[in-house]
Amino acid sequence: MTTAGKVIRCRAAVAWEPKKPVVMEDVEVAPPQAHELRIKIVATSVCHTDLYYLYETEDENSFPIVLGHEAAGVVESVGPGVTGFQPGDKVIPLPNPQCGECRFCKSPKTNQCEKGWVANTSVVLSDPDSRFTCKGKKVLQYLGLSTFSEYTVVSDLCVTKIDPAAPLDKVCLLGCGILTGFGAAVNTAKVEPGSTCAVFGLGAVGLAAVMGCSAAGAKRIIAVDINPDKFEKAKVFGATDFVNPKDHSEPVSKVLFEMTNGGVDYSLECVGNVDLMRSALESCVIGWGVSVIVGWTDTSEICARPVQLIAGRTWKGTLLGGYKIKTAIPELVKAYMDKKLMLDEFITHNMPLEQVSDAMELLKHGKCIRSVLSPPQ
Ligand code: APR
Ligand code: ZN
Ligand code: ZN
Repeated sequence: MTTAGKVIRCRAAVAWEPKKPVVMEDVEVAPPQAHELRIKIVATSVCHTDLYYLYETEDENSFPIVLGHEAAGVVESVGPGVTGFQPGDKVIPLPNPQCGECRFCKSPKTNQCEKGWVANTSVVLSDPDSRFTCKGKKVLQYLGLSTFSEYTVVSDLCVTKIDPAAPLDKVCLLGCGILTGFGAAVNTAKVEPGSTCAVFGLGAVGLAAVMGCSAAGAKRIIAVDINPDKFEKAKVFGATDFVNPKDHSEPVSKVLFEMTNGGVDYSLECVGNVDLMRSALESCVIGWGVSVIVGWTDTSEICARPVQLIAGRTWKGTLLGGYKIKTAIPELVKAYMDKKLMLDEFITHNMPLEQVSDAMELLKHGKCIRSVLSPPQ
C-alpha cells in the first residue's frame, strides 16, 4: 500500500505553548509539494536549540510547533521538480539550506546561504509552507524540519543523501551538534598541530570540539565544565587537562593563564553564556589567540575590553561548524564509517519517540549527552 500523494496520519511531539512540555499527538502530514520531500524519520536526537526555542521564545504566535532538527531517515515520496532523490534513499535533513546558487554558497569563505534562516530572521515554517496540522490547527515547522515526528516534509535544499549502509540511529547526530563542535575546532578556529586549546562546556557540542582539537593535532586540550561528571567523557574524546571553575576562587581565565604560561592558543565557548564567552576570549594568549563562540544565544550581548583584541586576539563565531553541510555531512558519515570520527560515544540514552519530553528534560538537567529517539518502525 503506497502512501505517496496521500495525507499521512502519524505521531509527533507538539509544543503547544512556551515553557510547557511537548505532547505526543496524532498529526497530519500533507504530501510534499514542488521541490519538497516527505521523509520517514528513523532516528532523531534532542539538541540544545530545541530546548532554547521552547524556553526562550515568548511570542505565542511561535506555537504550536513540532520541534526537532537532528535526525536521519528514509525518503517516503518526492514532490514535483525534485531531482537526485527517490523513495528509499537514506537522508539527513539539514537545519540550514545550501542552495548552491547564491553569493554565499558560491564563496568558499562561508556556509551561510541567502535562503537560510539567519539571513531571513525566521526559524520556523508557517502557513503556507508548513505541512503539519493537528486537531484542525496549522502547526509550525522548526528550522524547516520538525523531526520529532514519524514523518516530516522538507525542502529539497534542506536534505542530503548519505551512504545507504550508514546506521541511521548513529549518524542522525551529524545533523547539528556534533558537526558544530567538531567544525568549530577544525574549520573556524583552524586548530594547529602542537597547540594548546581550552573547551568551555562539555555537552555534545563541547565534546565534539574536544574531538576536533584532538583530530587537528592539539598537544594539550583543557576541558572546562562546572559539572565534573563530564570530565570522564571528555577524556575519551582527547581532553588532557580538566578544570572546574567552581574549584577556584580566581576567575577561570586566570587559572588557564597560569596553567599555560600566558593563555591558550585556541578557546571554544560551547555553552551559550555571554559571560563565559568573555572568559573564553580572556583565556587566550596575546598575539595570536583565537576564541570561537560556538554556543547559541540571542537574548543578551557580549562585551570585552578593546585591548583584548588590540593585543592580537581574534574573536569569531561559527554556525554549524563552518561546514557547507549538504556536501560535508555525507563525508562526515563516511569518516564515521571509516572509524575516523566517534559518534557512539555521545549517545547516553536510546528511547522510543513517545518519550521525547523525558529526553528533553534529561538534556535540560545535564543528565544526558545525546538521547536517540526512534519512532516505531
Ligand atoms: N562554565 C563551564 N561550563 C558550563 C557553564 C559554565 N559557566 N555553564 C554550563 N556549563 C556546562 C554544563 O555543565 C554542560 O556540561 O556546559 C555544558 C553544556 O552542555 P549541554 O547543555 O549538553 O549543551 P550542548 O548540546 O552541548 O550545546 C551547547 O551549543 O549549539 C549550542 O545551542 C547549543 O548553546 C548550546 C551549546
Ligand atoms: Zn545559497
Ligand atoms: Zn541543533
